[in-house]
Amino acid sequence: MSQILVKNIGLLVTNNPSLGSTQLGILKNAALLAENGQITWVGDSQSAPTAQNVIDADGKCVIPGFVDSHTHLIFAGDRSNEFSARMAGQSYAAGGIADTVTKTRAATDDDLLANANRLIHESLHSGTTTIEIKSGYGLTVIDEERSLKIAKQLTPETTFLGAHVVPSEFKAKSNDYVDLVCGQMLNQAKPYAKWIDVFCDRGAFTPEQGRKILTAGIAAGLKPRIHANQLEQGDAVALAVELGCASVDHLTYFNQSDIEKLANSKTVATLLPGAEFSTRSKYPDARKLIDAGITVAIASDCNPGSSYTTSMPLMIALAVREMFFTPEQALWSATKGGALALQREDVGHLSIGAKADFVILRESSYIHLAYRPGVNLVEQVFLHGKSI
Ligand code: NIG
Ligand code: FE
Repeated sequence: MSQILVKNIGLLVTNNPSLGSTQLGILKNAALLAENGQITWVGDSQSAPTAQNVIDADGKCVIPGFVDSHTHLIFAGDRSNEFSARMAGQSYAAGGIADTVTKTRAATDDDLLANANRLIHESLHSGTTTIEIKSGYGLTVIDEERSLKIAKQLTPETTFLGAHVVPSEFKAKSNDYVDLVCGQMLNQAKPYAKWIDVFCDRGAFTPEQGRKILTAGIAAGLKPRIHANQLEQGDAVALAVELGCASVDHLTYFNQSDIEKLANSKTVATLLPGAEFSTRSKYPDARKLIDAGITVAIASDCNPGSSYTTSMPLMIALAVREMFFTPEQALWSATKGGALALQREDVGHLSIGAKADFVILRESSYIHLAYRPGVNLVEQVFLHGKSI
């Protein structure tokens, strides 16, 4: 049996309100015990059990590992020139995706795996212990299938996003492409995917096409989620709620009716502050969602176009500064919120029975994640009870 006790934790965030104070379930002067990759004991450091391996957290803060519920890690190349042009005044449109599609199709499986592995390594070292990965830069049957095969080697949270944009060979024939996505592409993608997603926005797919794609995915046994309202307010939130999407992602734009629909549903609203940052777009005000009782997650959206970062600490800092989250809400949304967006009960919290995925910060409080932006505050990351 592998055992590890972390003692002298100044501030332990469990995300379980029955274990401690506030929504974060905070315990002071705490300890936690992990056995065989699971949390088996949480409590006062003074009364901690003995264990094979003991780590002294020296008064620092321990939090659940981040759950990054939205990334696009299967791609080749980068678009730094596009970013530079944008910072010089060009606006972001879904069109840049085509450039990454060309490079991804030309890459070998080994290249795609190596690039994704590099990014996973980066994200793990910044405290992300659960990650979702989408396809969506292949956009042919073969390239979507191999993207998901690669993603599945890296995480169980894989998403088929054949409906990212309409590829150039289907220009002016988008309904034919939708048929391909719903037919042969879905058939070959589904053994490797848990989720189905569609980019329902200006320049991508219409809500009618989105409905067709998500419905086909659900019939094939995949669970739905959606990219919506990144570029403009549309009908995608209504569609997502109607189809029972686990999450609506982006929500740069939303209106009162979207708020009401989400508030009366189980659909999580996932905000992606990295996309607003890197496309220099206006940030949505998260208070409007949180105050309406909507479950809100934050994720990195890591991709080479609109958000080329794996850093969840940066997402927390941006969410607090630009989207009006409190530091407490932002930490919750980056951990428990992400877990809810992926419908996972075993991660995003440090209750007994949960996966022993946690992070020792270099500081005494999680507030520093927003208060000290751009500084690496991750001292040690534990994945399934093992220090990485
Ligand atoms: O989530 N919104 C659509 N897809 C990505 C952007 C992809 C890209 O620009 O390459 C996103 O931001
Ligand atoms: Fe995305």
